[in-house]
Amino acid sequence: MPPESVITQEPDLRAVDGWMLHEFAEVTSTNSLAAHLPPWTAVRAGVQTAGRGRTNRQWISDEEGLWLSAVVPTPGDIAAWSLLPLAAGWAVLSVVRGLGLPDARLRWPNDILVGRRKLAGILVDRFSPEVAVVGIGLNVANHPEETDPELTGEVTCLADLLPHPPLFHALIVQLLAALTGEHHRLESGNAGGLCRDLNGAWCHRQVQVTLAGGRGAINGHLDGIDPSGALLVRDAAGEMRVLPAHRVERLREVFPI
Ligand code: BTN
Repeated sequence: MPPESVITQEPDLRAVDGWMLHEFAEVTSTNSLAAHLPPWTAVRAGVQTAGRGRTNRQWISDEEGLWLSAVVPTPGDIAAWSLLPLAAGWAVLSVVRGLGLPDARLRWPNDILVGRRKLAGILVDRFSPEVAVVGIGLNVANHPEETDPELTGEVTCLADLLPHPPLFHALIVQLLAALTGEHHRLESGNAGGLCRDLNGAWCHRQVQVTLAGGRGAINGHLDGIDPSGALLVRDAAGEMRVLPAHRVERLREVFPI
């Protein structure tokens, strides 16, 4: 979807720890709006009418959820930022765990799960080489399954998991601070540290990887990712397969019957 070219509402503006936060009641997609904004700007909306998920899926963005996009600079070699979607996942996971959900885990590449249910998702858009838009959808007290019954049993929200869910602004401050921290980590070239953190946080181990371009599927055991972000999957024959993210269309966890 092309970025929105015109912003018709006046946002509420406030400074948050090095970020300028624009808040709207309703937008199509905070990521699309953020496409026009400078680095270290964030956009939050109460409702998105055309929220976007990964792989061109719709993202239900009802009231009481947190729909937030953050524009971060990506200077220099574009390859140096290839781990940004994973780093964003770790940033959101750290915040969620700190709220009192230490068992929250990651589903590759960056879904946040509690048990088998999805709590948050992340979409990173690159509208231009100099910046990335990190879009975070976090279910706070909303129930997307009421809009799409197929999500019943698949999703959860903070209000159903915590006795006292945090206020939106406290969450935004924590998420933006965590993103700043992960951005610094990538900028300083510490991909190894990020990979170690991520490799302790994946929820799935037995996986089926569908390869891009109709190249079939691999069943095996996920060992984790390497410092380039490639998936390390030991296949049924015991061979370690190194799969760069662009070769992967989808990764599904396989549960024992
Ligand atoms: C996914 O899991 O498929 C990613 C979902 C990302 C949703 C967020 S909500 C804020 C931002 N604006 C969008 O349109 N999408 C992201």
